[in-house]
Amino acid sequence: MNWGMKNRISRIIKPKTGRCVMLAVDHGYFQGPTTGLANLGKTVEPLLPYADALMITRGAIRNWVDPAVDIPVILRVSGGQSILKELSNEIITTNIEDAIRINASAITCSVYVGGEYERETIGNLSKLVDEGEKYGIPVLAVTAVGKEMARDARYLGLASRICVEIGAHMIKTYYTEEFDKVVEACGNVPVVIAGGKKLPELEALQMSYDAVTAGAIGVDMGRNIFQSDSAIGMIQAVRAIVHDSKDVEEAYEIYEQSK
Ligand code: R5P
Repeated sequence: MNWGMKNRISRIIKPKTGRCVMLAVDHGYFQGPTTGLANLGKTVEPLLPYADALMITRGAIRNWVDPAVDIPVILRVSGGQSILKELSNEIITTNIEDAIRINASAITCSVYVGGEYERETIGNLSKLVDEGEKYGIPVLAVTAVGKEMARDARYLGLASRICVEIGAHMIKTYYTEEFDKVVEACGNVPVVIAGGKKLPELEALQMSYDAVTAGAIGVDMGRNIFQSDSAIGMIQAVRAIVHDSKDVEEAYEIYEQSK
């Protein structure tokens, strides 16, 4: 791995703990104005001091985020479908030059293993890895889950391992029972979990705790933070689990006290 690649990864995954809290706000690329993100800037701005990295599209960052902000950007560079159509039908929407203009610390796309367009989405990841390697920009592969797809360790391990084999530098997947098997399938490639649909805060914190206990290096969480009745309290609580090794009760107390 070259110096630039290592440097960018160390901006995202904090060397002090080897862990990371990514804030995901890229949902609009296929979901439109997701609850909580209609005014993305207003939602995100107070959360940025607590996030280690921001996962976002180029259109959203240019419209709603101050370029003076000091946060590593994980740029979503895929899209081309909506929730009204086949989800796996993704293309690369942003070229590497635009990612560099934005000063992205990483680029990301989704891979739909088992989806109708499985081959194309694996091809998208392969193209990003080639481009990323050329310019020292790491690639976060998202193991997306279509409507028909299972979310068990067997499936997520399969999808994550394929992304590793194609060359992804970080893996984002969903939490499931036997998550240690998914982490093991990724070898030395760091794994973060997505939050998924909004859960009660205690459950989302338990999931974060279980994921890092099973070997994840952190989270790339969206709705369970920005749709919480105390988004700042929730991101602080998740940080306490990921970076400070707090247990679920201690983290929940942080959330409760912030309300
Ligand atoms: C989905 O593909 C997007 O990449 C989201 O960033 C991802 O699902 C994480 O957000 P959430 O925690 O809301 O699931």
